[in-house]
Amino acid sequence: MQHHLTNHRISEILPKLFNSQVFDRRRDTSALVYDLPYLRERLQSIRRAFPDSAFHTMAIKASPNSTLLAHLRDTDFGLEAASAGELEIARQSGYPSSKIVFDSPVKTHEELEKALTRNIHINADSLQELERIAAIKSTQASQSNIGLRINPQVGIGTIALTSVAGNYSKFGVPLEEKQDEIIQAFLAYPWLNSIHLHIGSQGCQPEMLVTGVRKVLDLAGDIHKAFAKHAIKRQLSYFDIGGGLPISYHHATSPPTMAGYAAKLNEECPELFGPDCQLITEFGRYIFTNAGFAISRVEYVKRHRNVNTAMIHAGANMFIRETYHPQQWKHEISVATPSGRIKTGRAENPWVIAGPLCFAGDILARNIHLPPIEEGDYIIVHDSGAYTLSMWSEYNSRQKPQTFGITPKNQIVKLKERER
Ligand SMILES: Cc1ncc(COP(=O)(O)O)c(C=O)c1O
Repeated sequence: MQHHLTNHRISEILPKLFNSQVFDRRRDTSALVYDLPYLRERLQSIRRAFPDSAFHTMAIKASPNSTLLAHLRDTDFGLEAASAGELEIARQSGYPSSKIVFDSPVKTHEELEKALTRNIHINADSLQELERIAAIKSTQASQSNIGLRINPQVGIGTIALTSVAGNYSKFGVPLEEKQDEIIQAFLAYPWLNSIHLHIGSQGCQPEMLVTGVRKVLDLAGDIHKAFAKHAIKRQLSYFDIGGGLPISYHHATSPPTMAGYAAKLNEECPELFGPDCQLITEFGRYIFTNAGFAISRVEYVKRHRNVNTAMIHAGANMFIRETYHPQQWKHEISVATPSGRIKTGRAENPWVIAGPLCFAGDILARNIHLPPIEEGDYIIVHDSGAYTLSMWSEYNSRQKPQTFGITPKNQIVKLKERER
């Protein structure tokens, strides 16, 4: 499997999109487009890497599009929801409660009650949340599996803002300081049958992810020893390793593969692949990023001294991390003609690709070499299928563009209407 959509593939998709009934050239100044067959391949690569018994979910936050998620229902993946809103998206997408894992660091009483009533798997983020669950469970029956999120404290990866397993983290229960309390909680709550971790997104290499899993597996071993010591006949049922495998936003760089990550896990954490514990995964970025690209029309071209600026409709509204932290988040960019042909060559002067918002930092790319760009061309922002529309900023009241998909039969379908 290619680790990204090639320009060749995008140049097959774009003319179809531009000629389709669902694309409105006047109003669709930007769009997000998914290659659905490629997206399915990404899911298959996860399924192939892990044992058949594993339960895989897609992190909704990466791509909260109910039509897209409904389209993927037949893959037998479930969904990881991290808020009441994402639980609602899961419902709209037609996923049954048994296919949902509910994570969130700030679940309210009401949300917990609803999730318990629907028998949804809940990963508690803290010992305090376990107390709330205990109180609710004393008044209502529930078959929910309940896990506890552990912070294995393996350190910060290359991106501090998306690393959540440092010594301090607002997520989970810190293993080093709270090991005894964690074990006491497993002894005290007979319904606490699962364990969860998630280390970070994009900035943590597989070795770091594996170290975190190993530490939490050792904790699981200690919990089992404590069960034995107290003559408690119980086993942890689910081990949820979260998501976080990094992908590549740079086409010349090969990212770690899912098969490679799973092989490392198998080597260091063979218990995960055994019959005693069911594995859960929650990948988001790995699944969606490379399967989608954004396009945005060049409304104006400004030429000033030695720099040319292409003014487009997708800047910090859609690419908030990329504009505020350009050193860490960069996408490859290409240019297409109004008919969808990808332009080649290199203009004499470098380009600035500027978004539409009223602040100077709304710049998607600075000083990059691209082909000559004309008004009416489209800027293609590669690898935009995850954490783009879900992080949309409403500044200047610009509204979310449409989302499209290309099907295995090469048909363009609308996956989400543009906001009015
Ligand atoms: C609890 C949890 N699970 C899964 C994910 C998905 O991570 P990624 O998209 O990097 O795979 C996240 C993202 O931050 C998360 O917070």
